Amino acid sequence: MNCFCSGTRRKDVGIESSLGSNSKTKVKRAAATSYSFRELAAAAKGFNEENLIGEGGFGKVYKGRLSTGQLVAIKQLRLDGETHQGNREFVTEVLMLSLLHHSNLVKLYGYCTHGDQRLLVYEYMPMGSLEQHLSEKKPLSWRTRLMIGVGAARGLQYLHCIANPPVIYRDLKSANILLDSNLHPKLSDFGLAKLGPVGDNTHVSTRVMGTYGYCAPEYAMSGKLTLKSDIYCFGVVLLELITGRKAMDVTRKHREQSLVAWARPYLSDRRKVTQIVDPLLERNYPLRCLQNAIAITAMCLQEQPNLRPPISDIVVALEYLASESVSEVSRHRQRSASPPRQSLSPSDTQTDPH
Ligand SMILES: Nc1ncnc2c1ncn2[C@@H]1O[C@H](COP(=O)(O)OP(=O)(O)OP(=O)(O)O)[C@@H](O)[C@H]1O
Ligand SMILES: [Mg+2]
Repeated sequence: MNCFCSGTRRKDVGIESSLGSNSKTKVKRAAATSYSFRELAAAAKGFNEENLIGEGGFGKVYKGRLSTGQLVAIKQLRLDGETHQGNREFVTEVLMLSLLHHSNLVKLYGYCTHGDQRLLVYEYMPMGSLEQHLSEKKPLSWRTRLMIGVGAARGLQYLHCIANPPVIYRDLKSANILLDSNLHPKLSDFGLAKLGPVGDNTHVSTRVMGTYGYCAPEYAMSGKLTLKSDIYCFGVVLLELITGRKAMDVTRKHREQSLVAWARPYLSDRRKVTQIVDPLLERNYPLRCLQNAIAITAMCLQEQPNLRPPISDIVVALEYLASESVSEVSRHRQRSASPPRQSLSPSDTQTDPH
């Protein structure tokens, strides 16, 4: 697996050691706190409906305030009584997030195990998920969309290139990109994450899990998971940012339900790309920047995994587009702020003889 991370050194996050291997690498101790159930129930006002901020496949998420005054999001996992499905995700989440630290990954403050209860305590992300934002009326600007893409790509770069061994995220989607009050994005939900291939192995084999609409075709067919499966998911997120549409939307006409299937014919033709851009942007984007963003998206969505670019290349390309879009916007502002040019006729240039 090639990951071209020039200048970045892999950070040994001690995952192997924590999992009980004989590796002599230094173990980075888990930083998560163990909370009592009583403490968390008090923080979330008895898990009141008023404090409910969301619900996913694994359980409900509540807003809470700890006795220290800190705002948190508390996820109460639903455990399947017999198979204890959900417990595996709980353990993976605690392990991964205790060891992985980056400004584009959501922070796990702690957890609680009390009888059958499994709770996770995260930093509270006041602006919710990217998915919620894209379906809301007030559209995100082009530059904000690019910055969210850059932040999510940096989070993924940390997992792929800096964590040692690399981590395959497996559940990258707009619902798992959470936004803080400055719309700074953080990846969340590591319950499905897998340690990536080590040594000469090119993939890890797993049960196919993830979210419909985001799954890379080769992973869906064979269960072979590689870092390039995450790149495909990232391409779907870029496409959501550009088009403002959901990865899978059953309320649309049959041939428009799958975002990738609908958009694919437009991705290869630079002249057609404006036909899929989010109409709510009202053409407030530099055309060249849009075309380049689409080109990056198309590369991520290649059917053949080895043709998809490594995440480090994507970070560099998106950072460049974001910086271009700033200068483009400031040029546009300057143009509209400066007074209209006057024509300098010969009489204008004449100097007053006095
Ligand atoms: N740390 C957080 N801060 C603020 N809101 C959060 C936080 N974590 C989750 N949420 C909210 O709770 C919702 C549900 O999150 P959850 O991770 O349980 O499900 P999901 O990601 O939408 O779907 P699934 O986990 O089933 O794939 C999110 O969409 C988000 O709005
Ligand atoms: Mg989630």
